[in-house]
Amino acid sequence: MKLLLNPGPVTLTDRVRRSLLQPDLCHREPEFFDLQDEARERLLAVYGLDRADWTAVLITGSGTAAVESMIAAVVPPAGRLLTVENGVYGERIAQMCAQYRIAHERVAGDWMLAPDLDAVAARLDAAGGTPFTHVAVVHHETTTGRLNDLQGLGAICRSRGLQLLVDGVSSFGAENLDFGDSSLAAVAATANKCLHGVPGASFVIVRREALAQAAGRAYYLDLGRLSRLQDQRGTPFTPAVHAYYALVEALREFAEQGGRAARHRRYAALAEQVRAGLENLGIGAVIAPEQSSVVLRAYRLPHGVSYETLHDALKADGFVIYAGQGDLAKTLFRISTMGNLTAEDMDRLLAAFARLLG
Ligand SMILES: Cc1ncc(COP(=O)(O)O)c(C=O)c1O
Repeated sequence: MKLLLNPGPVTLTDRVRRSLLQPDLCHREPEFFDLQDEARERLLAVYGLDRADWTAVLITGSGTAAVESMIAAVVPPAGRLLTVENGVYGERIAQMCAQYRIAHERVAGDWMLAPDLDAVAARLDAAGGTPFTHVAVVHHETTTGRLNDLQGLGAICRSRGLQLLVDGVSSFGAENLDFGDSSLAAVAATANKCLHGVPGASFVIVRREALAQAAGRAYYLDLGRLSRLQDQRGTPFTPAVHAYYALVEALREFAEQGGRAARHRRYAALAEQVRAGLENLGIGAVIAPEQSSVVLRAYRLPHGVSYETLHDALKADGFVIYAGQGDLAKTLFRISTMGNLTAEDMDRLLAAFARLLG
């Protein structure tokens, strides 16, 4: 079996893989709603959230479904959103706004750089047009491995009474998210990245207050309706029952392993091991460690080695790495250390790199 170093789906533990083999289950039976309730409770527990203020809304679909559901609902009909972009996933948020005809503007920065917070503040304060109500950003921009500064953006939003919407698809469960920040209205994420579940289940953690004013732009992805029905132990459609089995098992395992702090420590150690090992081989990281997530790092392709050559050689050794997106495929590759991976696995990965370059 190959180890997955792509940013999800991740290499599963045996325990989570076995959970997929539980009894066939009708999604209109109480056993399913027990599963749904447990998933929702445990998702709130990842960041210790109070269910009087927050709700976890489950969605059948990949991470994009959760981000789309959040964007389509949380910006009210008369709202206006500023998207802060420095990669593929930030761009997608603007594309969703265009699709749903949500009034929006973009601050699109260089993909290799942190968002320019002064430019964000200036755009928010610029005179003319309907005032902004919301700002959206990707927490961990998986395009480059950069962790964007939510604290800085939160401060900008708080001082202007704006709400912040976060794509936390590749950070939820491993990186710090300050739910105490009063500007934070919602975070969208998925089961099959830092939580170690399987693709098919995603979710939005949203302030109940923000949901109260939600727009009903989407049909299948209508966050307000999904939330309402799930609160009543219901569901509008057929959920990915098996993905929910895996999510609940993964969340139980997550809690038993020490929760978010432990997962952060584990990823940080693996990411640093890989970074230092590759540096020894002359392969540099694209973003400085202190600006990177612990989840994924991007590296420059070794001189004269194409991504395809590197990928195929490592795959033959049992490791699946990940290409850069778009034009970046020519210059960089990515390694994620999410999933059921160990320091010994990373030693073997580094040995495979050394053989390839030696
Ligand atoms: C930050 C971020 N947002 C959104 C997505 C889209 O998730 P999915 O491919 O599960 O739809 C990804 C996928 O890697 C991501 O990293």
